[in-house]
Amino acid sequence: MAVNYRDLGFVNTKEMFKKAFAGGYAVPAYNFNNMEQLQAIINGCGRSNSPVIIQVSSGARKYADQTLLRYLAEGAVAMARKAGYNNPIALHLDHGDSLELCISCIESGFSSVMIDGSHLSYDENVALTAKVVEYAHKFDVSVEGELGVLAGIEDDVEAAKSIYTDPDQVEDFVRRTGVDSLAISIGTSHGAYKFKPEQCTRNAKGVLVPPPLRFDILDEVEKRIPGFAIVLHGSSSVLPEYVEIINQNGGKLEAAVGIPAEQLRQAAKSAVCKINIDSDGRLVMTAIIRKTFCEKPQEFDPRKYLGPARDELTRMIIDKNKNVLGSADQG
Ligand code: G3H
Ligand code: 13P
Ligand code: ZN
Repeated sequence: MAVNYRDLGFVNTKEMFKKAFAGGYAVPAYNFNNMEQLQAIINGCGRSNSPVIIQVSSGARKYADQTLLRYLAEGAVAMARKAGYNNPIALHLDHGDSLELCISCIESGFSSVMIDGSHLSYDENVALTAKVVEYAHKFDVSVEGELGVLAGIEDDVEAAKSIYTDPDQVEDFVRRTGVDSLAISIGTSHGAYKFKPEQCTRNAKGVLVPPPLRFDILDEVEKRIPGFAIVLHGSSSVLPEYVEIINQNGGKLEAAVGIPAEQLRQAAKSAVCKINIDSDGRLVMTAIIRKTFCEKPQEFDPRKYLGPARDELTRMIIDKNKNVLGSADQG
């Protein structure tokens, strides 16, 4: 049976982005696939009093089961309110690839959907995105579109190399589709391997330093669509402390490089109103689980390794909200 997001306690992203724009911060969009990640996001954003977008890819929806996921998400809002957190929470489809998937999510209580037509031709992207907007807006559900292609894996769509957003297209795209926010490509990338070592330089300590984001493109985009909410995907910093724990405990993540926190902070002060973070959450969970397995080989109760991983993820989220996105105390 179809359910409306308002009945589950979610909000769409309109008001969130308006405030983020005016306040010079970005709303965090954290991906989740399971209960522990969701608990950490809700508690981390609740404790730091940050607005939050909890987001689900189509892969996550299949993994968790779409029926269970609807109740997990509803339960997450109930848990937040019981804990006394009054921060706004949106439920968002990440990288939707069809109108049918967007409709299915809207019917199961999502307050926001992304339609990712970035791999299509420009005209096909416009046509698909406009169809999703037409449907979603009947229910006051927000829609995020994408122009430009990020390097790395975008769900089923593999982009071999980054194709930066063309600022000349954004005004026309926004006008013709009616989207509420726009994801752009300015050099971020999905996953833990955002840059090849040959694209990076090394600092005095020999640590890989990635090429800077293309703030010049972001500035141009802002000029063409003033006041419009911009989204950055692929924005994990691939936090070295967790990569190190993973590698010290039997893992093998070589040359993993992310987006430096200062550049995300700079972006958050601009028209960037939503910053997507998935890989950093995965790294935290993996690091703590690996460490626990190595230090306590006798442990086999999932609560004993998922619990500490969840607690560390909560801490990481509080730190990101406070020190990177600037969204803490904005709930
Ligand atoms: O941008 C993609 C997100 O990190 C989701 O990844 O499709 O493996 O769930 P996933
Ligand atoms: P990261 O892989 O950098 O965390 O990006 C996540 C993302 O963009 C989800 O849509
Ligand atoms: Zn993404």
